[in-house]
Amino acid sequence: MDEARITEIVRQVLAEFQAGGGTVAKAAAAPAASPSVATVVPSGGNDGIFGDIEDAINASVAAQAQLAAMGMDMRKKIVSAIRQTALAESRRLAELAVADTGMGRADHKQAKNDLATEKTPGTEDLVPDCFTGDHGMTFVDYAPFGVIGSITPCTNPTSTIINHGIAMIAAGNSVVFGPHPAAIQSTLEAIRTLNRAIIRAGGPPNLLTSIAEPTLRTAKILMTHPKVNLLVATGGASVVKAAMTSGKRAIAAGPGNPPVVVDETADLPKAARDIIAGASFDNNMPCICEKECFVVQTVADQLILEMQHAGAYLINRQHVDSLTKILINEEGHPNREYVGKSPQVLLSAIGLSAPSNTDLVICETAEEHPFVQEELLMPILAIVRVPDYNAAVEAAVRAEHGFRHTAIIHTARIDRITDFAKRIRVNLFVANGPCGAVLGSGGEGYMAMTIAGPTGEGACTPRIFSIRRRVALPGSLRVL
Ligand code: COA
Repeated sequence: MDEARITEIVRQVLAEFQAGGGTVAKAAAAPAASPSVATVVPSGGNDGIFGDIEDAINASVAAQAQLAAMGMDMRKKIVSAIRQTALAESRRLAELAVADTGMGRADHKQAKNDLATEKTPGTEDLVPDCFTGDHGMTFVDYAPFGVIGSITPCTNPTSTIINHGIAMIAAGNSVVFGPHPAAIQSTLEAIRTLNRAIIRAGGPPNLLTSIAEPTLRTAKILMTHPKVNLLVATGGASVVKAAMTSGKRAIAAGPGNPPVVVDETADLPKAARDIIAGASFDNNMPCICEKECFVVQTVADQLILEMQHAGAYLINRQHVDSLTKILINEEGHPNREYVGKSPQVLLSAIGLSAPSNTDLVICETAEEHPFVQEELLMPILAIVRVPDYNAAVEAAVRAEHGFRHTAIIHTARIDRITDFAKRIRVNLFVANGPCGAVLGSGGEGYMAMTIAGPTGEGACTPRIFSIRRRVALPGSLRVL
């Protein structure tokens, strides 16, 4: 069967499918792109949301085969349609995410949605590698995994769907999402919204699927299902562990606890502004946010003053003690009730009222304090004085706990930028800027919502969601 014929059949089947509310996509709808082409597409999908996890997975298998038959230009069209719709719906989805989870800020979630929309790489990320020499040519191309099972977080629900929707489809995959139990409605609405855009662009239905009532049980089914070819888990420590022990190929993105180091050569007013911008973003929920600060003691007072001038709210040791009792539970971990809440909510819990434009609470603590060692995911930054740069790096490495996630430094010394980066060995590293710069917000480069530290892929793009296929042509196509 030639390509034109295949495309024509796919179009026909799609038209029938859409007209009939989703009944059957037969084997003829897709070429031999995967062994699953004969899958019966379950009915009842509501813009990709099914009642049953098996139905969501089967629909995803069929959608991926259809996408494979449609070729690269259609992928480009779909990605472009997702970008257009996600931008138009960004504010609505941001507000929904806040209402759904009770965490974070709508203005920042909108910025996160926009960044994911504009800076997630598309098909252009899939540049084949090519080798030529005396023995001819060999190239390595990027092929789809097939169906990806994506376990998504409650901290960044809609921006993760946009980011994964673009990057995973650009790589030719379909996706079955397992939304975090605390972010179901916003995650599902983002999926529905993007699916409608895909269909308007001429793409297959159900490229993105999920289920109406996701639970831990359905997430476990997704993690072990034989029709799911790749697992991508973005979330807390327990979900990372579950993914990595699932027996399936997994890309896992877990928690971080990014330290920021400020030395005596730093531009302190700028460092103060950058740290506030990073640490207050979405009430400190992104895993890349500055979460504790180690400052060389000779400039500590000045840094704190500059942070106050830039709008941070300084609390004293007594307040820190009171707040610790509320924000840290008996096991020594963050109190879930306050994750993602505003500075005003945190402070009112101890009888303080901060101005409405306060974005960040700051305080001084010892290095051992839980505000330093625990990833709070709250807009409160603990500042620790250290004798010198070397002590700052040692403390930062300890506080990062080997997550290999993100670290930041403010210094005028290039040798220290190099030295700190070498010693902390994180996936994402920023010098003299807010954390977001490393994901394209005010810095160069692309954005990713999945920072795979535990499994080593780092900031994930379409080529990470691809299989490498190598083709050798010995004796051919070396034309020099
Ligand atoms: N689908 C189904 N189950 C999920 C899930 C998903 N998408 N995500 C997590 N779960 C499970 C966890 O495995 C855990 O199961 P367990 O009780 O059997 O161990 C349970 O749901 C609770 O999840 P968890 O997110 O750890 O607890 P929580 O809702 O109380 O905590 C946070 C919320 C925000 C504090 C927590 O998710 C967290 O620390 N996240 C780290 C930040 C993050 O998300 N980083 C990733 C980069 S964006």
